[in-house]
Amino acid sequence: MKFFIDTAEVDEIKKLLDSGLIDGVTTNPSLIMKSGRDFIEVIKEISALLPKNPISAEVTANDSKGMIAQGSRLADISSNIVIKLPLTMDGLEACHYFYNQKIQTNVTLCFSSSQALLAAKAGATYVSPFVGRLDDIGIDGMEIIQSIVQIFANYASLTTEVLVASIRNPMHVITAAEMGADVSTIPPSVIHQLVKHPLTDKGLAAFDQDWAKTGQTL
Ligand code: E4P
Repeated sequence: MKFFIDTAEVDEIKKLLDSGLIDGVTTNPSLIMKSGRDFIEVIKEISALLPKNPISAEVTANDSKGMIAQGSRLADISSNIVIKLPLTMDGLEACHYFYNQKIQTNVTLCFSSSQALLAAKAGATYVSPFVGRLDDIGIDGMEIIQSIVQIFANYASLTTEVLVASIRNPMHVITAAEMGADVSTIPPSVIHQLVKHPLTDKGLAAFDQDWAKTGQTL
């Protein structure tokens, strides 16, 4: 499963660049707002840091014409930009336009299997079901991942990748991997949680102590 990092904080991406864990980046208008930075500058910096990896940049227009105009400007920034579009009928129209232009898309704000199927039929490169926000309203977000993965597996013509979004904890990532989702987009804090285990820390401390007792150097 690919790991995208879900952030507009350039420093958080830099910290993980050498780990080999990051296959792409997703941003959204709320993450840009939290960064306090200029959207276009942030997208330029991120796409330069990871020039061969997909970087999702979201349109803000609500009509297909506006989405196509904004998405075309974003796509001009770099060939690795993926245009993020909302899962509305206008978003699907814009998605199909970009599909015909051979420009990659990520159809976002997906909350049901039927929406995901439409995104795939419109030619989306990725569809982003939001698991955390479904959990927040008492619906098991991971259940729709299972359903979407199964539907896409039934039809070889549906090549859209399932990009699990709105991830809140390591179990979301592990369950997504068990279900065979293509990608998880993960906040930096959850990526750091994934590596932690108390027995690793305890074991390392014991090895450090015992190695010191040998008096040897390496
Ligand atoms: C990423 O593409 C989504 O915009 C993001 O995962 C949404 O996460 P949130 O529900 O925590 O805001």
